[in-house]
Formats: sequence, C-alpha cells, structure tokens
Amino acid sequence: MFEILTRRQALGAFAVAACVLTPVAVRAEDVVKIGVIVPMTGPSASTGREIEAAIKLFQAQKGDKAGGKKVEVIFKDDTGVADITKRLAQELVVNDHVAAIAGFGLTPLALAAAPIATQAKIPEIVMAAGTSIITEASPFIVRTSFTLAQDTVPLADWALNNGIKKVVTLVADYGPGIDAEKAFVEKIKAGGGQVLDSLRAPLKNPEFAPFLQKAKDLKPDALFLFVPSGQGAQLMKQVAEREFAKDNIKVIATGDVTDDEQLNGMGDSVLGMITSMMYSTAHNSPENKAFVAAFEKANPTMRPNFMALGGYDGMALFYAALEKTKGDTDGAKLVDAMKGMAWMSPRGPISIDPQTRDIVQNVYIRKVERRDGQLYNIEFETVPAVKDPVKAAKAGK
Ligand code: PHB
Repeated sequence: MFEILTRRQALGAFAVAACVLTPVAVRAEDVVKIGVIVPMTGPSASTGREIEAAIKLFQAQKGDKAGGKKVEVIFKDDTGVADITKRLAQELVVNDHVAAIAGFGLTPLALAAAPIATQAKIPEIVMAAGTSIITEASPFIVRTSFTLAQDTVPLADWALNNGIKKVVTLVADYGPGIDAEKAFVEKIKAGGGQVLDSLRAPLKNPEFAPFLQKAKDLKPDALFLFVPSGQGAQLMKQVAEREFAKDNIKVIATGDVTDDEQLNGMGDSVLGMITSMMYSTAHNSPENKAFVAAFEKANPTMRPNFMALGGYDGMALFYAALEKTKGDTDGAKLVDAMKGMAWMSPRGPISIDPQTRDIVQNVYIRKVERRDGQLYNIEFETVPAVKDPVKAAKAGK
C-alpha cells in the first residue's frame, strides 16, 4: 500500500536524504592542525623536502584521522632563518590555532621556536635538529630526530677498538658540531687516545680546504668529520682531492656526512668509509623495506634519509598521542602522552625517554658499499637503545 506523505513528512524525508547524500562539512572542533616549519629553500632545503615527503607518505598510508579527529598539516618554509621560524611559529599559533608545531631543520631554528611552544603550551616536535640542549629549552619539546653525541660516542668506541689512537676532528662550528667534537674527543681521551687538534669550519659558506690540509699535515690515524645534512657532498669532494688514504689516514664521520640523499653522487672515493647513524636507507628490516619502497614510489627522484625518518616518526608520535588523549588537544596532556611512548620505526625500535623527552634508539656503525650499482651505508654493527649521552651524564652527576 502506498502511504501518502504530508508535505511536512515529505520535507523531513528530503532533509534526512540530503544529510546522508551531501558530505557533511567537518566541524572546526573536529580538526586538529599541526604546523610543520622546515627549510624548503636555501642550503638546508633537502631537509624540508625529505620531511614533507615523509609526512605526506605517513598520512597517505595511515589516513588523516587520529583520536577521532581529522589531522591537518600546514607546511611552512622558514628558509633556514631563525627569525622567520619564530614569526611562522607565532602565526601558526595565533592565526591557525595549531595544536602542535613541528619540523626544525637546524638547531638555531628549533631553539627560536621554543619560547613560543612554552607560551602557547603546545608540543614542539623536533624532527631534524640534533644539539643535546634543545629538549631543555622548553618542557613542551619532544624529539624524534637524534642527538650528535648519541651518534658519535659509538663511533669513538669503534675507533678505539680498531687501532685508532691519534685523531684530528673537523666539525661545523655551531651547536651540533661542538656536541659531536666534545663527545668524540672525551671518549677518545678516556680510551687512552690522543687528540692532535680540533678544527671548526664556519657553518655558512664553508671553505674546507685549509682545515683538511692542516689535518693531513698532522698525520693522525683518523680524521673525524661532522657537517649538517646538505653539506656532505661538498666536504667529501674536497676530502677526495687530498687522498688521505695514501698517508694511511682513515676518514670517519657521523652519517650526516654520507647522507643517503647525496651519497650516490659522491663517487667511488667514499667507498669503504665508516660512519655512525640512527638510520640508513639500506637498513635491513621488513618495516624499512616497505617504507623505502613506498617512499620511492611516491617520490621517484628521492631516497629517504635520516631527516625523512624524523618526520615520519614525528607524525607517528603525534597520531599516537592524539589516540591516547582520545582527541583532547590540551598541550600538556599531549606531551604527557608522548612520554614513554615506544614503537617500531623503519629505523628500528625507538622510544621517548619519559624523563628527558628525547629519543632513545639504536645507533649503527656502517660502511659505504656499492649495491646494485648504487652507493649505500651498509650497517655492520648495532649499539642498541642509546640514550643521549650528554643528558645521561648530567643525570648521573
Ligand atoms: C642541527 O642543526 O641540529 C643539525 C642539522 C643537520 C644535521 C645535524 C644537525 O644533519
């Protein structure tokens, strides 16, 4: 039997159908924004590109929902200039009402944003910068990258165990370089080794030649190097010109120098070079193989480097924290949720130290090798669950 609808019933039925058929606009309170501030232009542009690609991949794989909220990412290019980072962080807080800020391609940029995170009481997820002190600049900072001391101490141990007694260090003259130098020098001296000189090259427009010549003239067993991501190719070109191997001088470095993003273009002179790092594109695990395949499919001209991992895991941390708070975006609650969080990353098992809010992770000793016609950092030793040694030493005092 047909029912004859009154005009009112008909209108009601239409309204219900319209609700079902028309996509309902997401209410503002159901959207959580995270502002990602990275250098996308300038000398550290590759850091921004890697982090952006990794975050986009994370959202493509896991969707845009966490804790019942829609997660919206706003990318901003600070060009690597701290004043711009600070202004962008302020704008993201005031105009976009972000629940967190993230990224930070260099130490001064992470430090510039710290007072904004403290005032706004929102998490600052450091996905790239590596100076130990950063996490102490605000109780709202949590790090998913690495610290230079964390990567350097295992390499100094390797050097001591492999007959290296006399060393020269050459680092970029700012926070992470000084941390790397200090960690390497202290460990070598404690192990009975000798430090012949500690050289520092300027961060901006460095000219490495005079430092490399000086290092060569001192005839150490090994030269230890650190420069930030993006400068490795230029440094290694000048290292190659000096033919250290002919004088039996080993060249060793943190993995920032043999950055996977640039490694393939460095040529055969880097073959056999020993470095230490928390991530290699060649890391042999099912999680990493799946990650690299998906990353390279989405970005055919790129390789994921250690910066990409900071971005990918930083997003994983933000999602997991939102799940834990059931979508509550209160900044202190989000940071609390992040403390002690542990998960399997493509780089290996990682966790957030609940005391320091810094990352705990494996550090790998690697050797540059050619595989399938391409240069890779091949891991051959693992130092498990390394905490930032600078904070561990302070806590021990
Ligand atoms: C830093 O500025 O903290 C930094 C940048 C790039 C690196 C390592 C450290 O590769």
